[in-house]
Amino acid sequence: METVVSGIRSTGKLHLGNYYGAVQNFVKMQHEYNCFFFIADLHSLTTHPTPADLHQNVKQVLVEYLAAGIDPEKATIYIQSEVPEVTELYLYLNMNSYLGELERSASFKDKIRAQPENVNAGLLTYPVLMAADILMHRATKVPVGKDQEQHLEMARTFGNRFNRLYQHEYFPEPYAFSFSENLVKIPGLDGKGKMGKSEGEGNAVFLSDSPDVIRKKVKSARTDSLPTITSSGEEMQKEIEKVRIAFKIKSPAVQSLFDLMKVVSNSQTLDYFEYQYKNGTIRYGDFKKQLAEDIIIATAPIRERIEDIAKNESYLRQVSRFGAVKARESAQKTLKDVREIIGFKRF
Ligand code: TRP
Repeated sequence: METVVSGIRSTGKLHLGNYYGAVQNFVKMQHEYNCFFFIADLHSLTTHPTPADLHQNVKQVLVEYLAAGIDPEKATIYIQSEVPEVTELYLYLNMNSYLGELERSASFKDKIRAQPENVNAGLLTYPVLMAADILMHRATKVPVGKDQEQHLEMARTFGNRFNRLYQHEYFPEPYAFSFSENLVKIPGLDGKGKMGKSEGEGNAVFLSDSPDVIRKKVKSARTDSLPTITSSGEEMQKEIEKVRIAFKIKSPAVQSLFDLMKVVSNSQTLDYFEYQYKNGTIRYGDFKKQLAEDIIIATAPIRERIEDIAKNESYLRQVSRFGAVKARESAQKTLKDVREIIGFKRF
């Protein structure tokens, strides 16, 4: 059976993008592969969370993994920091990763721009730690989004380099893996790109959001693409809208809301609003009301389970201990081989 590894950084609550883009696929994969799903809390240290936040965020992701349907009896669910073998492999891989290639990584460049006051070495070697996560279980399939493609390529590079250096075909090549045919990209409510927690308040709908919060967020989602400042601006806006409708081109913001509807609503609802859009009779207020209600229905079972599981500390302890034992078993096998390949010998 092939091995699948994926992780989510514990930097807060999971949103619809995490769920439809990743976790829902994890749930399907657990029946067919040897799956390891972990919470990347070591990766989250690059932004220096407080001890209380660190723990709270790890708990949040663990609870939400379970609420979404990842089964600890089928997949191995673990917390990265509870498997110390990963930091050892990270150290070995660091010896074969080069400053130039690490500096060229797109995520590193983004981070430098986003947090110029905190360009730490952990940020630079983030892809090495990620490679260690994957290679530690000798995984070949990694369900991640497009934005992680470059990191995966680096994981292949580091694994291959290790193999070449020690002339040992040890690490297999991991590749991005999508379980469903069409990779769903969940747009943010602001119409400016994907849903994300760092994109600003109101852009993301979280799995744990209450129905009222969901209604409020969707209601204030933008449907136009330009701010209307003056009355002539408003006129222009109307003209643009007419041209769009004539050519059947939706504004990015409207397209985003339709994309969301495609995921959470049934096809009749979607067709109904598409038809109205084409006829120019769509009322965005009604459209958004329907979208909000369908998001609420689609996420209701998960929301309820989140509340129950979060209260059950002993279950969370049991799941994380069990997961750590299974993950360490796999990791220790690899590390034993790796130490031998490198040439560490005990006297
Ligand atoms: N870098 C990933 C992200 O930001 C998280 C991650 C860390 C990961 N280690 C991984 C994903 C290993 C897949 C496999 O989303």
